Amino acid sequence: MKTMNDLMLHFLQDIYYAEKVGLRSMAKLAKSVENPELRDAILAHREQSHGQIERLDQVFEHMDKKPRGKTCAAMDGLVEEGAEAMEEADKGPVLDAALIACGQAIEHYEIARYGAMVAWAKEMGQQEVAALLQQTLDEEKANDQRMNEIAERAVNQRARGVDGADEGDDETDESPSTGDEPAPKKPAAKPKKPAATKPAAKKSAAKK
Ligand SMILES: [Fe+2]
Ligand SMILES: [Fe+2]
Repeated sequence: MKTMNDLMLHFLQDIYYAEKVGLRSMAKLAKSVENPELRDAILAHREQSHGQIERLDQVFEHMDKKPRGKTCAAMDGLVEEGAEAMEEADKGPVLDAALIACGQAIEHYEIARYGAMVAWAKEMGQQEVAALLQQTLDEEKANDQRMNEIAERAVNQRARGVDGADEGDDETDESPSTGDEPAPKKPAAKPKKPAATKPAAKKSAAKK
């Protein structure tokens, strides 16, 4: 990898892999969630991902390269975290909250990658490539926002209401983390690799 063009191709292959892994994982995810609105949102994003992969095909074409994915360890790890949540929690609001957090970690990863690639494409004067990637970036941000909205309006409150058998009474506003239930926040904050880029992506996504 010597030039910015090489860099672009490298990240393109990385995100191509990530999108395809995401496509598979969203099908599983949709089956595991309880909230119908959340399930619809996941399935809608899954549909959208087909279009995102097509855009990547077009970007490869612009670069005169064959579409090809390259293993993305970050994406594999993020998907693995979602799978762990599914193993550790039963279907219900707590798992829904966990899966939103895991899903958002994936969105933030994608936002970071697409954001970088848009900037590079512009820098290299590749306006068409930048425009293609920008469309996907906008979709990923919108999806992240939608997850936030569903979590805050329809999932988190129910998750808090789940009786964890310890002291899970109704009036425990102050400390929701009694032992079993901090799952929702943790996965989003933990991923090893993209940790540096995620808070920034999260903030900018939240502002718009
Ligand atoms: Fe995507
Ligand atoms: Fe996404």
